[in-house]
Amino acid sequence: MGVDSSTQSCKVVIVDAETGRIVREGRAPHPNGTSVDPEAWWQALQRAIELAGGLDDVAAWSIGGQQHGLVALDAGGRVIRDALLWNDTRSADAAADLVEEFGAAALAQRTGLVPVASFTISKLRWLRDHEPEHAERVAAVALPHDWLTWRLRGFGSAGGSGADADARLDELVTDRSDASGTGYWSAATGEYDRELLDAALGRNAIVPRVLDAQEWVTDAAGRRVAPGAGDNAASALGVGAGVGDVVVSIGTSGTVFAVSEQAVTDASGIVAGFASADGHHLPLVCTLNAARVLDTTAALLGVDHGELSRLALEADAGAAGLRLVPYFEGERTPNLPDATASLTGMTLASTTRENLARAAVEGMLSGLGAGLDALRALGVPLRRVLLVGGGARSDAVQRIAPLVFGLDVEVPEPGEYVALGAAEQARRILARP
Ligand code: XUL
Repeated sequence: MGVDSSTQSCKVVIVDAETGRIVREGRAPHPNGTSVDPEAWWQALQRAIELAGGLDDVAAWSIGGQQHGLVALDAGGRVIRDALLWNDTRSADAAADLVEEFGAAALAQRTGLVPVASFTISKLRWLRDHEPEHAERVAAVALPHDWLTWRLRGFGSAGGSGADADARLDELVTDRSDASGTGYWSAATGEYDRELLDAALGRNAIVPRVLDAQEWVTDAAGRRVAPGAGDNAASALGVGAGVGDVVVSIGTSGTVFAVSEQAVTDASGIVAGFASADGHHLPLVCTLNAARVLDTTAALLGVDHGELSRLALEADAGAAGLRLVPYFEGERTPNLPDATASLTGMTLASTTRENLARAAVEGMLSGLGAGLDALRALGVPLRRVLLVGGGARSDAVQRIAPLVFGLDVEVPEPGEYVALGAAEQARRILARP
């Protein structure tokens, strides 16, 4: 079984261990915000497993999940507050403080990342500064996929009845890819940077043991449990991206990431030096404004996605000068957490429905195109672009992307690549002696 616990929902695929082909699936929604009670993910996971026909014939499993979210646990294994997610920008000042204290270049060197609001380290600092009563209770810090893995293995309990003695926080595990998105773990050394972790939270906390790609733990029924992964790393596995491939994923977030043999350090912070789920590296650029730019524009025009695409393709490239800078939710790349969107170049001639649709597609893709340029500037080889995610289903996006990126673009069959990548991890550990 492979799981994708994303920002919006939980998807489960059960695949044939021999062939990797999907035999059953299930999906359940959970609240879709920037701060969410992890219990809602757990309930959605259980529901999705039930809809997928249960675990009776499952031999191994693995969970992929949204990156960076802060799941703070007390000594009894209870969740202390709603998780602050990757798309929550309240920790922007905390990130800036950390950069000032430690220096961007030093942080990039130590952890592969220069903190922005999204990363776990910034959320810990926000907790210390704004909710000290919560920070003082933190005994362990987990990420969404770590916590769900721990729960599904049989640890933790709903309603907070856990007692210190049986909380088993020492059973928390994670993988290299998700650890590399915390801001206090180094893909280069494979070690946590305890000094940074302590400085962010203002105290010491348990962090999950980082498993290598070929390691596994077990659940209460003795099934093998793979390390799991952050969603981007899992989708790289699921779509079969190899060294030299760049994946552009248009979902709630927009991400551009490449599988690379070398660790990448970018002191400008544009490219995050993440690890991949299979022992390589996954330099990544993330924008906050992706598929929802299309949703918002379609809603504004009162059309569905098919019509939005048709309108965009009716307009000429450049939308007659109409330009949508789509920072509807602030932005992370460039790091402008308080930015708003703007529409410029409006003349009587340019201000048409067609040009607005085109400007939305071009504006969203330009943010991702800048990500490709940033990877290229760091010497990451870009052999081919694989375009995935809900937003990639739009005809207009598929046809305009090669123009904006200046690269050939392949669009794999739509698929649940995160869940499939997690399932692939489970298959690999099952194949080991
Ligand atoms: C990556 C990031 C997002 C989330 C979305 O750094 O923040 O892609 O992983 O789930």
